[in-house]
Amino acid sequence: MSDERINIPYKGTPEQESQLAELLDDYKGTKSPLIPVLEQAQEIFGYLPEKVLKTISEELRISLAKIYGVVTFYSFFSLYPKGKYNISVCLGTACYVKGSGQVYEKLQEVLGIAGGQCTADGKFSLEACRCVGACGLAPVMTVNGEVHGRLTANMVEDILAQYE
Ligand code: FES
Repeated sequence: MSDERINIPYKGTPEQESQLAELLDDYKGTKSPLIPVLEQAQEIFGYLPEKVLKTISEELRISLAKIYGVVTFYSFFSLYPKGKYNISVCLGTACYVKGSGQVYEKLQEVLGIAGGQCTADGKFSLEACRCVGACGLAPVMTVNGEVHGRLTANMVEDILAQYE
């Protein structure tokens, strides 16, 4: 996996870089540093850029493959920056059988991005999720946590327009 999936380039500031260096100094040589370091690195950068994961790998002497394994296992971690509006389409069973897959495809087409990416202007990011507890409104998507239900693919553009 690489940042080629992401069309917003890494833009770590010197302050963020020095916070990361301090963080790694604090945890070097400690037992099981990986998860706390990843959590705090995500707080610093807002997500976990590949460049940051490489630095963590080198400094803590943990293989990049192991780090990616941890990052992709826990849904809390994100490998890409979120847009101003983060769209999450529920692909849980109740939503999927009612057509959330078509809604997800339509969003990818309209936004010109794949799931897990952010538009070049930083406005919208798109992801799939599991049940958000609103099955009665299936199929469902959320935009920054705001629920939109009983969706059809034809409704997607009008909903996006509300966030222009
Ligand atoms: S399966 Fe989508 S909200 Fe429950």
